[in-house]
Formats: sequence, C-alpha cells, structure tokens
Amino acid sequence: MKKDFLSILDISREELANLIAHARKLKEERRVGIHTPVLAHKTLGMIFEKSSTRTRISFETGMFELGGHALFLNPKDMQLGRGEAIRDTARVMSRFVSAIMIRANRHDEVIELATHSDIPVINGLSDREHPCQILADIMTIDERLFRTEGIRVAWIGDGNNVCTSLILSTILTGMEVVVASPPEFAPGKEIVAEALKMGARVRVVADPMDAATDADVIMTDTWISMGQEEEVDRRRKIFMPYQVNAGLMSMAKPGAIVMHCLPAHRNWEITDEVIDSKASVVWDQAENRLHVQKALLVRLLG
Ligand code: CP
Ligand code: NVA
Repeated sequence: MKKDFLSILDISREELANLIAHARKLKEERRVGIHTPVLAHKTLGMIFEKSSTRTRISFETGMFELGGHALFLNPKDMQLGRGEAIRDTARVMSRFVSAIMIRANRHDEVIELATHSDIPVINGLSDREHPCQILADIMTIDERLFRTEGIRVAWIGDGNNVCTSLILSTILTGMEVVVASPPEFAPGKEIVAEALKMGARVRVVADPMDAATDADVIMTDTWISMGQEEEVDRRRKIFMPYQVNAGLMSMAKPGAIVMHCLPAHRNWEITDEVIDSKASVVWDQAENRLHVQKALLVRLLG
C-alpha cells in the first residue's frame, strides 16, 4: 500500500518520533559530508500552483542529496493548466515518477491527486494544512528546548493552514497551543472541534498577551497568505495589534524562542528587532525543512 503525507495526522506519534530521529541523523551526516544515495533512480515530481522558495529548494536539494532527482512542474506549462483532469494527471505521473509533491490552491485538489495516484503524494502546502512545515517546526523545538511534551506554543495571528497543522500536531507531540487571533480570522470552529475530539491540546483566545504569557514558543506567520493579496489593506489594519514585537516577547518565559515559517513581512507580523534577536530560530526552522523532508522521502520511497 502506498503511503501519502497530506496531513500532519498521516503519521502516528511513533512514526513522528522516528522521523525526527532520522532527520537529526541525516543533519549530522550532512554536516560531516556523508551522503548515502538511498533514493538512487527515484524521481519526485513537484507541482507548484503557488510560489515557493523553501519548499522547492529543500525538496529539490533533498532528492539530489539522497541520490534521486526532482522535477519542478509549473501547472501553467503542463496540460493541467489547459484543463487536463487532476485524476488523469495523477494516473500519467504515476507511470513516470516515484512520488509527487504538490503545493495546491485547494486541499481537495491534493486529495484528488492522491486518490488517483499509485505513488505517494506529499502536501507541500494547501489552503488547509502545511504539514511539512510543522515537521520542521517540531524538529526545531525539540532541538532547542530538548522536548515537545508539555511545551506551550503561542500562535499569534492568522488561524491559517500552518496554524491548523500546528493544532493537529499537538495530538502527536503533547505540546499545548494557545491561538490568539482576531475573532474573524480564528481557526475554523469545525477544525478546532474535530481536533479537540481527537485529543488536541488547543485553546483559542482573542488577546495576544494572554496567549504569550508564559509561553515557551511564540510562533507567527504572514497575515496575508498566498491568494489573499487583495485583502492586504484590511488585514494589515485588523492584525496590527497581533504583531510579534519586544513587548509581546516580554510576556513569554525567559529563554522562550520565536518562530516563523517564512516568508516574513518584516515589521508587520514580526519586528526586525525580534526576528533578528537571539530568541529567533527562523533560519534553523528553514534549514530543518531539508533534513526532515529527506527523512520523509526515505520513509515514503525507501
Ligand atoms: N515556509 C515555506 O513553505 O516557504 P516557501 O513558501 O518559500 O516554500
Ligand atoms: N500561510 C502562508 C504560508 C506560506 C509558507 C501561505 O499560505 O501563504
């Protein structure tokens, strides 16, 4: 049976622990120049319906370092962009490549692609989730704070795709998340209810100071996700009280870290002072995408 990675909940608690351990090993091996070509002759097809820096570069580099190959596919240059069905694209790609990574406008496109593929499909961001990002974030928290169990994360800002994966991940990690969002942009009630039923540890509040108080981790993301560019003026106004700045950071535990999946709008959701501070682990977070996705690729393809 092929395995997909469409949601952070597509792996178990135990698989997550193994994945992080493998990612740490791959990180150390890379540091000393060891590269084992365990994915020789394997190809990853990467469909990007939206822009990317980190996801594209980390998957492409990761496949290369594992001895395989990655194909960057822009739907505009594919027949997909001229109306070829996703299910037909899935069937055809299954005959050529070993796995597909897709960054899609809509999560149902990711599901449809996986349903009709004979090969593993990885969600490289959809409107619902960004599970690869949360894998890297869990690895980074574990690296910096030496555990995830009992860690208190304050999510400050938009209750978006990254936030959803973070909320769901608490089922696997034993972390606790307090989300502070303007009520209009809080994570979907259905998602939160579903997550709580499955054992997630999440609380949604409106006051960013409330969320940040005694947090081990302050985490934020853009206020304007890809596709929301027309709402920029309205969103910027509504979200300004949710800026991660020195005042907000002072509410967190001493030694707290600050995280952002990037790209950041500096001095909007996070100030220069905070993103460039000692508490900031954003560059490690970005780097860990590479290591953890290599571990994921080996798990799905090895
Ligand atoms: N964090 C993240 O997924 O970045 P990109 O959009 O650059 O891939
Ligand atoms: N929430 C952001 C994440 C970008 C990596 C978006 O969807 O654009």
